[in-house]
Amino acid sequence: MRGRLITLEGGDGAGKSSQIGPLRDFLADRGISVLLTREPGGTPLAEAIRSWVLDDAPESPEALAELLLVFAARRQHWIRVIEPALASGTWVLCDRFVDSTYAYQGAGRGLSVNRIATLERWVLGSRRPDLTFFFEAPVEIALKRIEARGCPNRMEQESAAWHERVQAGYRKRIAGEPNRFVVIQGTRDRVAISGELCRHLERRLREWTEGAA
Ligand code: TYD
Repeated sequence: MRGRLITLEGGDGAGKSSQIGPLRDFLADRGISVLLTREPGGTPLAEAIRSWVLDDAPESPEALAELLLVFAARRQHWIRVIEPALASGTWVLCDRFVDSTYAYQGAGRGLSVNRIATLERWVLGSRRPDLTFFFEAPVEIALKRIEARGCPNRMEQESAAWHERVQAGYRKRIAGEPNRFVVIQGTRDRVAISGELCRHLERRLREWTEGAA
């Protein structure tokens, strides 16, 4: 049976990256083979593209170049890593995926949703994540976390208004596909969040198993 693709999304500093390990452990404890990966990145080439997108050196891509780079990385990651894993029955937990592009390059940079949707179809065909956990945090709290962490990437250095636009971009995605998204309050403590994630996942696993029976 094909594996499932589960993605984690949220604005910068919303606390999602620390939850990928507990989710992996939850699935592995149930005998499910799991692959952890991230975007932009996940292959050597896609990781190189990640640094072009997120670092200021050797130069910052302009908005459309940034969008094309993100999709070039995604195509490589999809063909070389994600799709073969899913086809072999491995589940994939991906830290960010295509919703980030709608939020950051779409809402953040102001690029057209139609253009992004065209690239999405081109790169992924009709495949989409099975489930997406969206980590929500007020922008002022997220910005404080980013500052405390230090070494902000190009996106993290943007203004509060920019981060608000990114959040609004995510909210549109969630409104368009409410069944795919589970919204998590990223400001709660880590253990409480992992418990909540596991309960949601347990429920989805049951639905998927019953659906397949
Ligand atoms: P992030 O996943 O937060 O990693 P870290 O915790 O190491 O900072 O950083 C990835 C950045 O990439 C984040 O700022 C959002 C951005 N991004 C896009 O702009 N577009 C995309 O399509 C993706 C996947 C990410």
